[in-house]
Amino acid sequence: MNSKKNRVCRLLNIEYPVIQAPMLWITGARLVAAVSNAGGLGVIGPNAGSTTVTKDVAETGERLRREIQRVRSLTSKPFAVNIVLPPPAFPDLGKEFTNRTIQVAVEEKVPAVVITGENMETYIDPFKRAGITVLCRGLSINVEIAKRAEAAGIDCMIAVGFEGGGHSGMDQLPTFVLVPQIVRALKIPVVAGGGIADGRGMVAAFALGAEGIYMGTRFMATTECDTHPNVKKAILEAIDTSTVASAGVMGMARGIRNNLTDKCQKVAASGGSLVDVSMLYRGTIIPGLLEGDVVDGSVGCGAVAGMITEIKDAADVVIDIVKEAEQVLSDLKKAM
Ligand SMILES: Cc1cc2nc3c(=O)[nH]c(=O)nc-3n(C[C@H](O)[C@H](O)[C@H](O)COP(=O)(O)O)c2cc1C
Repeated sequence: MNSKKNRVCRLLNIEYPVIQAPMLWITGARLVAAVSNAGGLGVIGPNAGSTTVTKDVAETGERLRREIQRVRSLTSKPFAVNIVLPPPAFPDLGKEFTNRTIQVAVEEKVPAVVITGENMETYIDPFKRAGITVLCRGLSINVEIAKRAEAAGIDCMIAVGFEGGGHSGMDQLPTFVLVPQIVRALKIPVVAGGGIADGRGMVAAFALGAEGIYMGTRFMATTECDTHPNVKKAILEAIDTSTVASAGVMGMARGIRNNLTDKCQKVAASGGSLVDVSMLYRGTIIPGLLEGDVVDGSVGCGAVAGMITEIKDAADVVIDIVKEAEQVLSDLKKAM
């Protein structure tokens, strides 16, 4: 891997174009610092480092500040913070939380942010003024949204296909067809996510034109990830059909198939609205991800879980995937 040539590495000042995707409460300082120390980019998730819900905007900001400071105590390498924007259909939903987390990220002068959402035009200015590198993942992602993000001035687009864990918008475009079309449409570098967990996936992403990879589910099965051991075990036990996506107000959400996802499918099949389905998820994320209720809780997870067979240290995930990719590439050269 030549980090001097790779635009994502140059932009973020990192050694390997491997980005740990933010995942709410479970992507805290330990994981973020481990990824960044290994030469990738760790990203702090919303609510990371906390285990209880707060409805207090100021407290949310201070929690984020504490987590940023914890990361800084563990690494001097670049890292990023995830900022989730309100969905376009509900532009005021959680707006005050978004604005406060933006303020804290700017005050703390974080090196980079990953903004998740489609109203990037409304929220990008404070980062640009502060000289913070902006990566954008459209929750709904298609060529039109990616072009808007580029026109708004973001530095790097993250294209996550429908096979990815957690929310992925409504267009349901798989990584294999999404990434090359976005690469063709944009001038800025594109990072591919959704379904990547090993060197084959990394090489495939680069073959499609991406200049970096973005992995969530692979990093859930790491020593440093704050998710419950039951969740890590469920990922190791997952097979190809173990995840399912349900439609809610934030788009499609993929997770481990369980009682909760069965209920969502039933409500949707009997004519329930997106709001009805989303209501089923209320209060299920902490029981699922943090307390390990993989039967009735919400356990966001990508389809790639079926390919993950080992819990590793996060640094090994970063180093191994780059080594494997180099091996895959050299094997391909011989085979083709
Ligand atoms: C449990 C879980 C929680 C997630 N939470 C967030 C989040 O807080 N913010 C965000 O932008 N994306 C979130 N995502 C999506 C990931 O950042 C990323 O897009 C996805 O995991 C990539 O696909 P992969 O799982 O196949 O690697 C979440 C995904 C999972 C599995």
